[in-house]
Amino acid sequence: MFIGDVEVKGLARLAPMAGISNAPYRLVAWECGSALTTSEEIDAIGLTRENPRTKYDIAKYLPEEKPIALQILGPSAETLVPGVQYLQDTGADIIDLNMGCPMPKITKTGRGSALMKDVQKTAEILSAMRRVLKVPFTIKIRSGWDETHLNAVEVAKMAEDVGIDAITVHPRTRAQRFNGLSKWDMIAEVVDAVDIPITGNGDVQSMSDARAMQAATGCESVMIGRAAMGKPWVFDEAFEDLSPEGKYEYQSRVINRHMPLIEEHFPERAGLLQMQRHLSWYAGGRDRVRAFRVELFATRSFQEARDVFDRYWESVNPGAA
Ligand SMILES: Cc1cc2nc3c(=O)[nH]c(=O)nc-3n(C[C@H](O)[C@H](O)[C@H](O)COP(=O)(O)O)c2cc1C
Repeated sequence: MFIGDVEVKGLARLAPMAGISNAPYRLVAWECGSALTTSEEIDAIGLTRENPRTKYDIAKYLPEEKPIALQILGPSAETLVPGVQYLQDTGADIIDLNMGCPMPKITKTGRGSALMKDVQKTAEILSAMRRVLKVPFTIKIRSGWDETHLNAVEVAKMAEDVGIDAITVHPRTRAQRFNGLSKWDMIAEVVDAVDIPITGNGDVQSMSDARAMQAATGCESVMIGRAAMGKPWVFDEAFEDLSPEGKYEYQSRVINRHMPLIEEHFPERAGLLQMQRHLSWYAGGRDRVRAFRVELFATRSFQEARDVFDRYWESVNPGAA
């Protein structure tokens, strides 16, 4: 599919996940087959207030990631317009607006899924952003605020009218957060209501689930979030056909690619938690993983974390997960 003039070559891609889908992880997911990557949410207020963490850590991407979509989070045109101007100037190929985050600390300040409440006001915000953006502009929405306000179709039509290029639909309400199953029917309703490309998202565990979502809803692309945590190979159809030893080798290659990227990208204090988190997920489902995780999270440096992981990884049975 195309988002504006950017071609998305492949069905499935990594969903934005705060604290997880940062540049090193996005790059390994892309190398495994994610068709496009999107940054985690970048706070517009942090950008305009020159918060160094927002600007130089969260908004940073690697040149090999291009084309890249950068996602912004904010409550108003006053913060979002300068925010997207900054992101566009840094070379973003697509700007995505977060209209789905359900966390109370975000919605109570009018951000994330709170933008689905007052559709007219949000239309004005999107129009102001559209006027300054030369690159494709997308939004990521939920099915609505709660069960009595299921307005994804209304929001999608409004977005198409103000010139949005594509929409991602995660069909849970803000009130549901991540509970219950996402209702794929809502994705199909949005697909039917507008002519711009729709990406479906929610509870996709594999490429065959992604194809099932496409067949059931007519969406052109699929985002995978939680099922990609510790499993960037979920985007590679060939992975499932490998022998246990082949899988283990593939996983070792990815991990040995990912860890140096974390070391290069982050200062050790911030990067260590990233390394521990991802290594802990990579070990998921294997023997003695609990004891390994206790040891891993007690480490104090990149080197120590990698040594603990390497010892563990060499000791596991390649066929066990
Ligand atoms: C830890 C975590 C962080 C997330 N952060 C973001 C975010 O920054 N921006 C966003 O649009 N969605 C975010 N999401 C939502 C995901 O992009 C996705 O919509 C959701 O997880 C449903 O997809 P899944 O069932 O494949 O996980 C986050 C989800 C999780 C679990």
